[in-house]
Amino acid sequence: MKAKFHLSDSIKLIRNIRTTGTIAPSSQALIRALLKPIDFETSRCIVELGPGNGCVTQALLRQMHPRSQLICLELNYEFADQLRRIEDSRLHVYNACASSIRSILDQLQIGEVNHVISSLPLTLIDDDTVSRILASVGDNLRSGGRFLQYQYSLANYGDMKPLFSDVKLRFTLRNMPPAFLYDCVK
Ligand SMILES: C[S@@+](CC[C@H](N)C(=O)[O-])C[C@H]1O[C@@H](n2cnc3c(N)ncnc32)[C@H](O)[C@@H]1O
Repeated sequence: MKAKFHLSDSIKLIRNIRTTGTIAPSSQALIRALLKPIDFETSRCIVELGPGNGCVTQALLRQMHPRSQLICLELNYEFADQLRRIEDSRLHVYNACASSIRSILDQLQIGEVNHVISSLPLTLIDDDTVSRILASVGDNLRSGGRFLQYQYSLANYGDMKPLFSDVKLRFTLRNMPPAFLYDCVK
């Protein structure tokens, strides 16, 4: 089932603009471009940071292998509650900061993950937390795994270069606002 536009999602995003950084969920074009580098046949464990209303989450679940797992970390409890209503046994939702990836993977007895997908508005998060989140993404990705994210600016580009062996950038106008897509390979 494709995520539909719900006014209530935009209202939640606007009410929490200081942590969401946007007024509308990502477009289907942005989501398609973001997830394009994933090989869903071989990927068995994906972490999603900042899933919000679940528009990226739903796209992941539609394409994921039946034996894959998706672990979502969402800071906003209202969005976390909304995500828990998605009926899919592959999905694990945590109302938690993205910096706590390791402790959540420990709870699930998971070592490393294939991919981390992020919609986090890094420019709105304090520098210390951004450093902890990015270090944790790098530490918990398998070799060859990908950190796929979109950002509305290039402010954090320099933070990715030391942590990943390859960082590729694309840009899409097909979202409001237009966005940079990062494909960071460990
Ligand atoms: C731009 S919205 C993205 C929502 C959705 N994934 C999309 O693409 O439309 C960013 C989301 O990140 C969440 N968020 C912000 N800081 C976070 C953090 N430190 N840890 C986890 N989630 C966070 C916000 O609550 C919000 O739901």
